[in-house]
Amino acid sequence: MSFDDIIDRFGSHSVKWDMMDKLYGVPKEDGIAMWVADMDFRPPECVVKSLDAMAETGVYGYYGEDASYRAAIQWWMNERHGWDLDPAHIFTTHGLVNGTAMCVEAFTQPGDGVVLFTPVYHAFARVISAAGRDVVECEMTRQDGRYELDFDAYDAQMTGKERMLVFCSPHNPSGRVWSKAELQAVAAFAKRHDLILVSDEIHHDLVFPGHTHIPMATLHGLEDRLVMMTAATKTFNIAGSHTGNVIIADPDLRARFAAKMAGLGLSPNSFGLFMTEAAYSPEGAAWVDELVQYLDGNRQIFDAGVNAIPGLASMPMASTYLAWVDFDGTGMDRSEFTRRVEQDARIAANHGPTFGTGGDSFMRFNFATPRARVIDAVERLQAAFADLQ
Ligand SMILES: Cc1ncc(COP(=O)(O)O)c(C=O)c1O
Repeated sequence: MSFDDIIDRFGSHSVKWDMMDKLYGVPKEDGIAMWVADMDFRPPECVVKSLDAMAETGVYGYYGEDASYRAAIQWWMNERHGWDLDPAHIFTTHGLVNGTAMCVEAFTQPGDGVVLFTPVYHAFARVISAAGRDVVECEMTRQDGRYELDFDAYDAQMTGKERMLVFCSPHNPSGRVWSKAELQAVAAFAKRHDLILVSDEIHHDLVFPGHTHIPMATLHGLEDRLVMMTAATKTFNIAGSHTGNVIIADPDLRARFAAKMAGLGLSPNSFGLFMTEAAYSPEGAAWVDELVQYLDGNRQIFDAGVNAIPGLASMPMASTYLAWVDFDGTGMDRSEFTRRVEQDARIAANHGPTFGTGGDSFMRFNFATPRARVIDAVERLQAAFADLQ
């Protein structure tokens, strides 16, 4: 399979393609879906075969004896991220939105504050609010076109009712990879305010050449407050399997999380475990290396084309396949630039305000799609904003 192959996803219950007309008014006939974070690529053969082999048995019973699955996760984190984890510390949840919600339930009470550095992945705020906790938005600042964390401001903002910080590393929507010094500063902030630190690292494998992701778990002295969240789903485009890992070294936090899972009767769906184990393999690793090269090529084309439009600025990104584009320089209000993207360019992209404070003038574009489509999207955007040239 080549990443250039165009796969028709219409009629497959794809949220990204089959819902874009309903949600964004972007027509099926010639629209381009660049919103939800899944890719238009098939996973590597090892993953497809694992599912085929499982399906072929014709028996779809409960999953058990998960030692090889845990060992595959341990191998991947060690091999790819230099993180030596204990397989006994792994919980498998129904994805990481579910993992975040479970952390909120396990480690906070109604009325507690949960801190987010905004703009950030929108589902965090959704599950925190739905659980009756307060979302405490700490807005990031911008320096040289990229996001920075302003801890003096955040220290002043804390009231004492905050119990947890959900941190996104690498960062969605900006594609920022945090340095060791930045991670240490985040850890110090969590300690200063006695916060449980939930580090969502779902994008950790999709890091462009020249940048290195550092797992929060490789920092020292955080074990008693750290919850790590990872998954194979973004990396291998298997998000429909709704499988994620919540990894907790501290025995007390682990017991609280386990009690919450037991109370809700949660256990994983076997299909996701089969695919994850197959993905976390040398064959899966070789595929990811090729994928990242391809995504990097798409990134360069998308950024160059978009940044050539006066008034538009795609934030420099070190990871993910989600470009965060600022329309502020157009001088247009949000409804006008959104109308041009959706109705003139016929592209469905995420609206910035859903990512929280600081997102108003932005839209997020998913370029994990065959290159011909990325080129088409860039040309459409250039035409939709041609009057600014
Ligand atoms: C930072 C982050 N966390 C979690 C998710 C979704 O995770 P899941 O599909 O496992 O619920 C996404 C999806 O885009 C994401 O960007």
